Amino acid sequence: MNVVTSLAELRAARALLEEPVGIVPTMGFLHPGHLSLVRRAGIECASVVVSIFVNPIQFGPNEDLATYPRDLPQDLAMLGDEHVALVWTPTSDVMYPPGFQTWVTVEALTERLEGAERPGHFRGVTTVVTKLFTGVQPQRAYFGQKDAQQATVIRQMTRDLNFPIDIVICPTVREPDGLAMSSRNAYLDPVERRSATVLFRALERAQAAFTQGERDAETLRNVVSAVITQEPLADLQYVSCADCDTLLELHGHTDRALLSVAVRVGRVRLIDNVILTAN
Ligand code: PAJ
Repeated sequence: MNVVTSLAELRAARALLEEPVGIVPTMGFLHPGHLSLVRRAGIECASVVVSIFVNPIQFGPNEDLATYPRDLPQDLAMLGDEHVALVWTPTSDVMYPPGFQTWVTVEALTERLEGAERPGHFRGVTTVVTKLFTGVQPQRAYFGQKDAQQATVIRQMTRDLNFPIDIVICPTVREPDGLAMSSRNAYLDPVERRSATVLFRALERAQAAFTQGERDAETLRNVVSAVITQEPLADLQYVSCADCDTLLELHGHTDRALLSVAVRVGRVRLIDNVILTAN
């Protein structure tokens, strides 16, 4: 497994990779959710490239850039056990040289949900992912359903900019009690950790109602918020039952929807989602 930082090293190493090449973009502090993407890429691609970069421009001024968990030696040890050809660990100078002033923006899709709560976040994500794509030139790119809006935004960007890249979305990997794995779970103290299961409990309750025939979008949102408001440490930011492609809020009868939530547990902001589908 080759580990590179500069663009020159990346280009030299990339030129030697057998194709198709798959990229798994990450911000490190890897967990089994990330590794599920790496494994899927390993099955579908001749070479797997993993990028590790805590991307400063996708964090808001009051967000957790300074404290975001980092452990590069452990990340490299985990990737060393997988079928990974190349790890790219760019520095901020490589990604954003002095005078940087070019951004990639996806419009309507980023105005809702996470975009509404985190102004500028998706502009940072789409800009860095474009740079990861142009640097690595993969045929396939792997993202998690855990960040459903991010996945939708990246699909849109890839289509709009004609990137010749297949976007593959992989299922959310969960802890045994249902909590979606996330690098940010490391912030939770033991009491908060127990409360954090409320996201999945709420989504599961709505999923069960849907399976039993409940199809009204507003009722499904209410099922989720009722469970979350019963959890004393949880502060509900939004609950959404939206069209899977446009992310527009649904009203009335629905046979297919993205049900998503954002909740603050103590100082930690968590997101989760499920796709409701009638068949
Ligand atoms: P990060 O949060 O490190 O996540 C990297 C990838 O792993 C994303 O596609 C994310 O959706 C996926 N992932 C995280 N937790 C997961 C889980 N429990 N199950 C399945 N997949 C999971 O998302 C980012 O980094 C950044 O925004 C990035 C795309 C790298 C751009 O900076």
